[in-house]
This record gives sequence, C-alpha cells and structure tokens, in this order.
Amino acid sequence: MSPPRPATGRYLVETWGCQMNTHDSEKLAGLLEEMGYLPASSPHQADVILLNTCTIREKAEEKLFSRLGSFRELKAERPSLIIGVCGCVAQQEGESIFLRSGLADLVMGPRAINSLPSMLEQVRRDRSRPVDLGRREDSIRFDGHRARRAPGPRAYLTVMEGCNKTCTYCIVPTTRGREVSKEAGEVLAEARRLAESGYVEIELLGQNVNAYRSGLVHLGRLLRDLQRLEGVRRLRFTTSHPAHLSGEIIEAMRDCPSVCEHLHLPVQSGSGAVLERMQRGYTPRRYRERIDKLRALVPGIALSTDIIVGFPEETEEEFRETLALLREVEFDQVYSFLYSPRPGTAAAETADTLPLEEKKRRLAELQAMQLEIQARRNGRLVGTEVEVLIDGAARLGNGRLKGRTRTNRVVNFEGPEEMVGRFARVTVVSANPNSLEGALAEPAGLDLARIAVYK
Ligand code: 5AD
Ligand code: SF4
Repeated sequence: MSPPRPATGRYLVETWGCQMNTHDSEKLAGLLEEMGYLPASSPHQADVILLNTCTIREKAEEKLFSRLGSFRELKAERPSLIIGVCGCVAQQEGESIFLRSGLADLVMGPRAINSLPSMLEQVRRDRSRPVDLGRREDSIRFDGHRARRAPGPRAYLTVMEGCNKTCTYCIVPTTRGREVSKEAGEVLAEARRLAESGYVEIELLGQNVNAYRSGLVHLGRLLRDLQRLEGVRRLRFTTSHPAHLSGEIIEAMRDCPSVCEHLHLPVQSGSGAVLERMQRGYTPRRYRERIDKLRALVPGIALSTDIIVGFPEETEEEFRETLALLREVEFDQVYSFLYSPRPGTAAAETADTLPLEEKKRRLAELQAMQLEIQARRNGRLVGTEVEVLIDGAARLGNGRLKGRTRTNRVVNFEGPEEMVGRFARVTVVSANPNSLEGALAEPAGLDLARIAVYK
C-alpha cells in the first residue's frame, strides 16, 4: 500500500451534546491537524466537515439529516468535499445513515476516533463509505495530548468512557458502551503535560466518573495524586452519580485545595417512586444524605443537578416531590429537561401518556421556582470578593471579560483583554440568576502569582 498523501485543505467540526463530545471534537480536530488540515471558519471553506452528534434527547436524527441536507449545494459544487457523521447518532444508526442520506461519506462512533485518519484516507482513495463503530478499549487509548483544545486556560481530560448503569430513560450505555478507565499513570502523565503547557484548570471527564478505577486507584486517590501536580490550581470532575459518590471522593474534595468547591450531581427526580422506575439506584433520602455530607465536609460548595420532568406516568404529586427537593436543597444551578423517549431504552416501552402541554407546564413551573432560588443565592454574593479564572470575552462583548469562580459561577466584568487566561480577584457588584456582574478588586485585582501561557 502506498503511504498516505499529506492532506491539504481545511476542516470544520460541528459539536452537539455534552462535554465528552466537545472533547471528542477536540481530539478529531487534533488528528485532522496532524494530517495537515487547517481549521475552516465556515462550511464553504471546508474540505472536510465532521458532524459530532448527540442523541440524548429528542429529534437527534432529524437534526442530523436536516444539517446534512443543508450541505447539498456545497457538495454538488464541490464533490471532493468529505462529510463525516461522528458521535452518538453515528453509533446508534451506523450504516443506515447512508440509506437515508447520500451526503454522508463516513460514519464513525465515539469509540472509533483513532480510526479517523485511515477512514479519511479511504474516502479520498476510492470514495468508499467506511463505517467504524470502534471497540470497547479503543476509546480510552487516545493520547489526549494530540487533541486540539479550544483556546483558554481550562482543559478537559477523559479518564473514563462508557456507562454500566441501566437508567431506564438513557441512551448513553448504548452509544458509549461499557465502562473503561484510562490507566492512572497515563492520566497523570497527560495532566502533567497539560500543566507544563500552561493549563491551570483540568476537568476530568467520564459518563460515570465516580466509578473510575485503575488497579487500586479510585477517583478519590486519583484526585489526591493530581493535587500534587505543580501548576494545576483547579481540578474538577464530571459527571457524578449519587450512588457512586463515595465518602472517599468527598473526603478527597475536602482535603485537596485544588479540587473546586462545586459538584454536578444529577438527581433526576425528587420522587422515590419515579427514581425506582428510572432504576437510579438511590432514594431521595440517600441523595439528601450525600448533599448533607458534601456541605458538611466542603464548606461553601456549590451544587448543580439535572432534572427530568414528565417521566412516564409521573403524577402531579410525584412532580411536587421534585419541587420540594429543589426548594429544600437550593441548588446553585439546575438543568431541567422534558422527558424524551429514546428508541431502544426500557422507559420507551411505557406509553408516554402525559400530554405535552402538561409536561411543559410542569417544566415552566419548576424553572420559574428555580430561577428565584438562584437569584436569591447569587444575590447573597453581592459585595463579596471572588477569585475568577478568566476564560475570554463576555458573551455580550463590549470589552467585557468573562471569568469563572471555583464554584463554577460566571462573572462578567470590565478588564483588558491581556488578562484572558489569568486569575483575578473581582468584587461582585450585582447578581442575575445565571451569572454575576463584577468589578476588578482594588488595588490589585490581577493575580500575578501565575500567568497562564497555554499554547
Ligand atoms: N429524556 C430527557 N432527558 C434526558 N436526559 C437523559 N436522558 C434523557 C431523556 N431520555 C437528561 C438527564 C441527564 C442529562 C445529561 O440529560 O437529566 O442527566
Ligand atoms: Fe449526547 Fe450522551 Fe452522547 Fe454526550 S454521551 S453526546 S450527552 S448522547
């Protein structure tokens, strides 16, 4: 076989879905750049377009095929354009994607990322339409240092892939497969290289990150080992599972100054009966106990959660139990979703009889209540000084910067662009439910102790 030709051209990766997918896109981009491709700023410029899809909620397939359809003219003008379907829809639909759309050139599951170069080469060689859905151990083999990370001082690091749980609503075990952890030595080596490259915050990723296990090393021990790395001032991990959040993990959060005082701990429902129908493996009481322990051991910890509204046969009373839990716990952030039956999951077998209007009413009620809670909690911070790590420009621009506190709150404030990537001290001047407004603290808001020079 002749050696692959170096690629010339431009690429675009579009990402839907969770942090895992965002980081997978960074890995895909890294491989494309190794092959010689440069980033494109629009589909019109691109020679390779990868759609990194998500199927967690509704209309994933429609979204994919309508996006593919939008490239019809481009592809007619430029038949050499390569369009790849990656991510969780690719994993679920496999080859059938080609039957529904003539526009896709390759289909690749999340576990097959390492195969991208050979698949592209195959398409370029003979325009055949390769499919690779990967193997269990492949996904974790990727050397994270090859990823092309988004600019900024924060880096994702995949420590495990897959999920062994059987939550009845969830498609993830189907798309991401069984759990597999990255060897602890490799995680440490990757983290060390990230620190040497100037990253000051690392977020460990895994669908069920609390179940991380490499030999005798569990997540608590891994956090303690990472804590010793010089330069890494902030560590986070996501996503946690209430039934796997061990005392050892919470104690590591207490003992390690670099582990941030924030935890995303999806509860899904405040009703024991619904949790049972979801097969979540914990009761509302057990969940509350975890929260109590977290708050006792990690003072000032911010908590966020996910809620599914309108799970099959959810009664008004069961819904009210969720509201009661939210009122009692007072989360700092809640991501709430309408239940969406996913083909092939156990819950999708139960008739979804609750009218959509009713589900929407419940969701709106929950969200309105939660916004008040967040406004109140954020309001308490007005007048205090917080440490932020500056990510970049604020969403609304106009010369404002955006930073994040250790508790994962977004703070917008005025400051020079050169501060991006640095830590600063900011006084909170006003609060919104989802963000804070601040001003650089006087006299020296800038923390010169560490200046990040990430690559
Ligand atoms: N319907 C609605 N929400 C869902 N989630 C997962 N599966 C479904 C579904 N079928 C939500 C859960 C999960 C988050 C990532 O997405 O709340 O924690
Ligand atoms: Fe979407 Fe789940 Fe796949 Fe992430 S793992 S991209 S949330 S389906």
